[in-house]
Amino acid sequence: MPLCPLSQNIRRPAEFSAGRFSLALSGGIVFLRGIAPVNIEIKMLGPGDAHVLGKVAKEVFDYPVNATFTVEFLNDPRHHLVVALDEGRVVGFVSAVHYVHPDKAPELWINEVSVASTHRRRRLAKKLLASMFALGRSYGCSEAWVGTERSNSAAMALYASVGGAEPQPDPVYFTFSLSDRVTE
Ligand SMILES: CC(C)(COP(=O)(O)OP(=O)(O)OC[C@H]1O[C@@H](n2cnc3c(N)ncnc32)[C@H](O)[C@@H]1OP(=O)(O)O)[C@@H](O)C(=O)NCCC(=O)NCCS
Repeated sequence: MPLCPLSQNIRRPAEFSAGRFSLALSGGIVFLRGIAPVNIEIKMLGPGDAHVLGKVAKEVFDYPVNATFTVEFLNDPRHHLVVALDEGRVVGFVSAVHYVHPDKAPELWINEVSVASTHRRRRLAKKLLASMFALGRSYGCSEAWVGTERSNSAAMALYASVGGAEPQPDPVYFTFSLSDRVTE
């Protein structure tokens, strides 16, 4: 059961470009024009881009970037990472996975969204999400979804601002530790 589906955006791509900013795709790099500061580049990473994560602003990732995990991630065609670069330094990112199921169209799970505190409230998260949604559409995803804490007011406002709707009835999710023996 998806938490906080963002399918309204998926089905109405024009919302993200209508007068607020424009996207230009060139060799896998997305340049933003309009509201974004001119020196911020939005870039979709792929195989061979691991070096980009060598220069990351504080607080953007929870933990230090791991070289082995990075290469595995970037070489996996279902894992996606869009970053915001300020003069070559990563100041924000959205990570996602698109997955398939025998009876459903592909869906896009937004794993993490983060922007350095020095770069917040410049609509970078919105732009990163717009790029990720566009990518999801290109893979035929019918819906994107993300989970957050209700107490995270910035995240709640962000997801609402890009058209996210909360599913009903009230969703919940569980985590299972896989470190121990599975309870049968
Ligand atoms: C949540 C987060 C990614 C937002 O990044 P951001 O680049 O500052 O967000 P944007 O500038 O694109 O904001 C888009 C909209 O979200 C809302 N918003 C964002 N931050 C907000 C805040 N602190 N308070 C209220 N509304 C906020 C606004 O409506 C804003 O639109 P506006 O600028 O037109 O008013 C950022 O605060 C962050 O990295 N937080 C820590 C990590 C985190 O909690 N990630 C989410 C995990 S689910």
